This record gives sequence, C-alpha cells and structure tokens, in this order.
Amino acid sequence: YEVEWDADAADKGGWSSFMAKEINEQPDSVANTVRGRISGDAVEIPELTALGAERLTNVDRIIIIACGTASYAGMIGAYAIEQWARIPVEVQLSHEFRYRDPVLTDRTMVISVSQSGETMDTLMAVKYAVEQGVTTVSVCNTQSATIPRESDAAVYTHAGPEVAVASTKAFTAQITALYLIGLHLGRVRGTLSAETQADAVRQFETLPEKLREAVDTHTQIAQLAHWMADTRSVLFLGRHVGYPAALEGALKLKEIAYIHAEGFAAGELKHGPIALIDHGQPVFVLVPSPRTSPLMHSKVVSNIQEIRARGARVIAIVEKGDTAVLPYADDVIRLPLADALFEPLLQVIPLQWFALELSTVKGLDVDQPRNLAKSVTVE
Ligand code: G6P
Repeated sequence: YEVEWDADAADKGGWSSFMAKEINEQPDSVANTVRGRISGDAVEIPELTALGAERLTNVDRIIIIACGTASYAGMIGAYAIEQWARIPVEVQLSHEFRYRDPVLTDRTMVISVSQSGETMDTLMAVKYAVEQGVTTVSVCNTQSATIPRESDAAVYTHAGPEVAVASTKAFTAQITALYLIGLHLGRVRGTLSAETQADAVRQFETLPEKLREAVDTHTQIAQLAHWMADTRSVLFLGRHVGYPAALEGALKLKEIAYIHAEGFAAGELKHGPIALIDHGQPVFVLVPSPRTSPLMHSKVVSNIQEIRARGARVIAIVEKGDTAVLPYADDVIRLPLADALFEPLLQVIPLQWFALELSTVKGLDVDQPRNLAKSVTVE
C-alpha cells in the first residue's frame, strides 16, 4: 500500500516542479524549525523540557533510527549531538534495528527521524523501543502523524508540506532539529559552554541568508548538469559531516535521475573505491573549510589530487575564498562561510539542484520518480 499522490491539492508557486519549489524554500523552512526554540543565547525546546531534566541528564546513549534521507540527516545530527552533549550516538536503519536485538536500557534514548511520521519500518522500530521502556523522541514534519503520537516527545520540523517524492527541505529541517536537540541536551547536562552555545545560536541566526546564497548556485549547477547530460555514474566524496551529505547527494541522483551514484567517506577512497576512478569519471567533492578544519581540508585536497591524477573530473564544493583546490578542480562551486557542523546544510543544496537538473535534462518526472513513494507504509 502506498500513500496516494495528491499533487493537485498543492501549488508549485511558479516553479517547474514541487522539488524546485521545496529546494528554494529551505531558508524559510530552516528558520521556521528554529523559531520559538531559542531564548537569548540558549536553545530550549519546550517538548524536551516537558520530559523533565532528570530524564535527560540520565541518558547515557542515543540511537537514531530512520530510513533513506532521514537516516543521513540522523548521521549528520549524530556528530553534533556527540560534540555538544557528549553522549555516544549511533545511527541505525529502522528496518535493521529490531532484528539485531539491540542493547537498550532505561538510560537509552531513541530518536526517530521521519518526514512523514508514517514510514512503517520506522514506526515498528519506535513501537519496539517503546515496549522496551526507553525514552523515545520523534523528529517529524507531519503534525499528529503516527510516529510522534507513539513517542514520549515530538520535536516537529516546521518545514511545511513536502510534496516531491525526493526529500529536500525536510532533510535540512531534520538536521536543524537534531542540532537543536543536541544543544538542548548539552545545556541541560552542562556539557556546553556558554560561548559554544552562543556561537551555535549565531550560526542559526545567519543560516537563512547563507542558505539563500546556496540556493542561488542553481544557475551554475543547471549549466553543469546540461554539460553532463550523458553521465552514467557519479561519485560523491566527503569527510566528517560531509560524508553523510555525500551519501545524500548520491541518493538524490539515484532517486530522480536514475543514475548510478555512490557516496564515500573521502578517507575510504584508498581502501577500494579509488579503483573506480578512470578517465572522465565525475566526482563531487565536499571540501571542508580551511579556516575551521585545516587538517581535514588538507586531507581532502590530497584526495582531490589523487583522483585528478587518475583522470577524474572533479567538481569541488568549497567555502568562498578557498583557492587551494583551484589547480585540481574542473568546476568549483562556492558557498558562504559557516562553522564546520553547519557546512552540510549548505553543501547539500547544490547537490539537490544537480539531481533535479539532471533529471530534467533527461526528460524525467522530477516529482514522481518511478518505483518510489513519498511515504512507504509497508515493511
Ligand atoms: C521514502 C522516501 C524517501 C524518504 C524515506 C523516509 O523512501 O521516498 O525520500 O527519505 O521514505 O521517509 P520518512 O517520511 O520516514 O522521512
């Protein structure tokens, strides 16, 4: 059973597809997800406060469960939650979770991430967690959906309805919500300095403007996609939070352009995937900032040199002002400056546009790709 497609009920607002409209909405959808959750220089999510401070300070392990795009948002969120709240976080695909007989205690918190709140795999995993007596938090975009109703607390992403099958604005809103959760937990548990908290709040405040700039890469990306219309395989490389962002870039391309695509952790390249590189192989590389992550930056620049030497066509996504990659990149996409954890929110946007534009040049239906449903309500 698949949820019925209801395109007519919504409005594309002048855009050629719902996906284009939704990519463009990200500055607002992220801002809406943050709204009402910052007071002064601190993050406070009323729904978590309602769980009681003791329950939150008691948590000694977090498991994030999700499928598809939401699982990549979960992977990115895990870095931030660990960094800010100093709680070990692991991410599991919902459909794998139950079958591994997971170790759960009354100090475990399970955070589910689901745009629809109806994905059966995730719902069953949440029900299992509830039966085991762990604290369950739902990050969801659909008010009163089943998963948030089954959970102890719901932290809604206020991205507004997402109609295109391929998730875009829900993804950036999910990352935002998970970051807010990390900051809330860090504050309550005392693992977060006032300065780090204030810095993160400032990042959120300036994010909409930066997201707008990232959305404005559209024209450049459309041209790139036009030249690459015959591409049959694309690779994506990233490190740290750029790694799940690379996985998401690859998933978008599979979903709507039906092109073979894979995302890799850049450091894993030499352990196998580099064998795939041959003349003309397009590789998107998400380059971390040389200001905030000089070590990772230099490693990624060497990765670029390695693949370039083997004939790869390198499309580098860099922070504005980073000139280190210029000699080795065929195309450079420049994004505004952001703190390391906030980079994937910007980096994913040109990747979303790329999938959309390649799908469009191939004459495919961007919003309703073959074989896929917006919400998968079977296990
Ligand atoms: C389906 C959609 C994906 C989505 C996944 C999880 O497979 O096609 O775009 O990421 O479900 O959906 P959810 O609603 O749980 O976030």
